[in-house]
Amino acid sequence: MKEYKRYLITSALPYANGPVHIGHLAGVYVPADIYARYLRLRGRDVRFICGSDEHGVPITLQAKKLGCSPQDVVDKYHKIIKESFEKFGISFDIYSRTTSAIHEKTASDFFRKLYDDGKFIEKESEQFYDEEAGQFLADRYITGTCPKCGAENAYGDQCEKCGSTLSPDELINPKSAISGSNPVKKKTKHWYLPLDKYESWLKQWILADHKEWKTNVYGQCKSWLDGGLQPRAVSRDLDWGVPVPVEGAEGKVLYVWFDAPIGYISNTIELMPGQWEKWWKSEDTKMVHFIGKDNIVFHCIVFPVMLKAYGDGFILPDNVPANEFLNLEGDKISTSRNWAIWLNEYLDEFPGQQDVLRYVLCANAPETKDNDFTWKDFQTRNNSELVAIFGNFVNRAVVLTHKYFDGKVPHKGELSEMDRETLACVASLKDSIERSIENYRFREALKEAMDIARAGNKYLADTEPWKIAKTDLGRVATILNVSLQICASLSIAFEPFLPFTTEKLRQMLNMDKKPWDVLGSSEILEEGHSLNQPQLLFSKIEDETIAFQLEKLDRIKKENEAKKANEQKPAYAPLKEECAFDDFMKMDIRTATVLEAERVPKTDKLLKLLIDTGIDKRVIVSGIAECYSPEEMVGKQICILANLAPRKIRGIESKGMILMSREENGKMKIVSPEERMGNGASIG
Ligand code: 2FM
Ligand code: ZN
Repeated sequence: MKEYKRYLITSALPYANGPVHIGHLAGVYVPADIYARYLRLRGRDVRFICGSDEHGVPITLQAKKLGCSPQDVVDKYHKIIKESFEKFGISFDIYSRTTSAIHEKTASDFFRKLYDDGKFIEKESEQFYDEEAGQFLADRYITGTCPKCGAENAYGDQCEKCGSTLSPDELINPKSAISGSNPVKKKTKHWYLPLDKYESWLKQWILADHKEWKTNVYGQCKSWLDGGLQPRAVSRDLDWGVPVPVEGAEGKVLYVWFDAPIGYISNTIELMPGQWEKWWKSEDTKMVHFIGKDNIVFHCIVFPVMLKAYGDGFILPDNVPANEFLNLEGDKISTSRNWAIWLNEYLDEFPGQQDVLRYVLCANAPETKDNDFTWKDFQTRNNSELVAIFGNFVNRAVVLTHKYFDGKVPHKGELSEMDRETLACVASLKDSIERSIENYRFREALKEAMDIARAGNKYLADTEPWKIAKTDLGRVATILNVSLQICASLSIAFEPFLPFTTEKLRQMLNMDKKPWDVLGSSEILEEGHSLNQPQLLFSKIEDETIAFQLEKLDRIKKENEAKKANEQKPAYAPLKEECAFDDFMKMDIRTATVLEAERVPKTDKLLKLLIDTGIDKRVIVSGIAECYSPEEMVGKQICILANLAPRKIRGIESKGMILMSREENGKMKIVSPEERMGNGASIG
């Protein structure tokens, strides 16, 4: 395996249009952080780069929804996201943002170089334009009926109901999400990255040279490449983003997926202005992108093509270990439905328990397929793994050392077969953890780290030092020495996974942070070394705590159902302007009964009705034929405006008007008294 001088780790820049949730943490940030922490422990030169993705339509849509500016939106969420990551111990070397001046310049210069080098295709095309709002419509700004499943309100790029990828042209009855008007097609010029020209290079680089990539990543790349690549527009008609740095490109910005990955470069520049190039332009750097599966094409195909087209020695990622998605209690995590566990809320509700969530999200990470987070599993993993295995072992070892040896690491006598086997087992688990982490199998690595605590627990259960203390304190000393060395190994093995716990453990063991290579040694803690007082590493999570969380989710589910029912309710026409009492009293509304009914020839909507008003018999022409057949109307009691001035409709004199209730979707029902009354009864 090649030895690298530097490790450049990036994790997807989250959109600053909302807080981050457990899906983000499990899919991207926890694995990336484990990897970064592990490499640092191994003494490698690591930079872990991230920041907020602050451009693009999701931000402008959120601003519209909240009635503020896009800058207000990103300022608010950048702060919340950054703080959540810090509190979860995600150890970025920099967490910056794509609205920074350095980023705008870097992205703009990057585009300009590709433009100057003739790497783009310039093309005019027809795109949807909202004449009322006076702007072109990004795909997300166009809604309509999904051609695949018939759902209303599908977006121009995707239907959220059936998950189909769409283009705005496919939508049935497209409407502008800005004004609600019907958009028109208008010509506009854009710059395209000709991905097709790089197809054979990509096939070689990915399909031939990177067969070791994760199956889900390799498979997605293969299917894109097999399907044939098309040129991709890298600019948009929008007023939020990095302006296209070309003459005659007013009102155009860089496409967010062109500017965001450049964020990895600009954030590195911000971190190390004088040295960034050696991180991005040296074959001695290993670059790894941690992302979610929805970002694969951009990191494996589009961004590498951008870097390749730029040239100038830019390196490509060595690996792109994308994860699948995490669901919550059997349902897709959704920001719009508030179906998520938000990190900022978790921090309030489980203070000091960040590592429990880190543990559960890693143990159950969606590494090869979508996975489910359940509160029950969260409780079980905490109570029966963290508390019962890891916490219990450390606690027993430290408490017994205080009990029998005044809190000092006791003398290690001659090792028994079991002592040697246990220590060998820890050393071999070290190798397994390394292999797993280096191959991006973090679940497995975590299980192997926990196997060290399992081995420790078994060792104590088998040797039973509390039973032999009265007869053979020398042997107890050896057992506890071995146990404490295992505790020290645990503080190293778990450092990438549970950084808060290992800090607590080191404090208890009165031990400095040790390098990775020391893991598995039987000489980490010297004889006579004083331990600090024992403290519990984890605490049991009670059923009430879990019930509270489940009730919270239940409430959200009910709110969503109510919201959905409300959305399905038909819309009603707005109130008409105020009407004076005297005006209302001018209307003579009466009951009447339909005697005869027939369709008005050559019309779809009109019925001619002969009615008995109790005062006279008269003809009324009414536009109800789409809702009632003539047969249905005969015999029905209705209400009419009896003193409406007669009008000729299709040559028939109509005297009065039938009262109807009407929904905006066109549905109509006649209004009649609750019980049959005499004809001519007045209403009002
Ligand atoms: O999917 C997302 O949340 C994007 N904001 C990820 C961008 S990753 C990168 F390229 F910056
Ligand atoms: Zn659909």
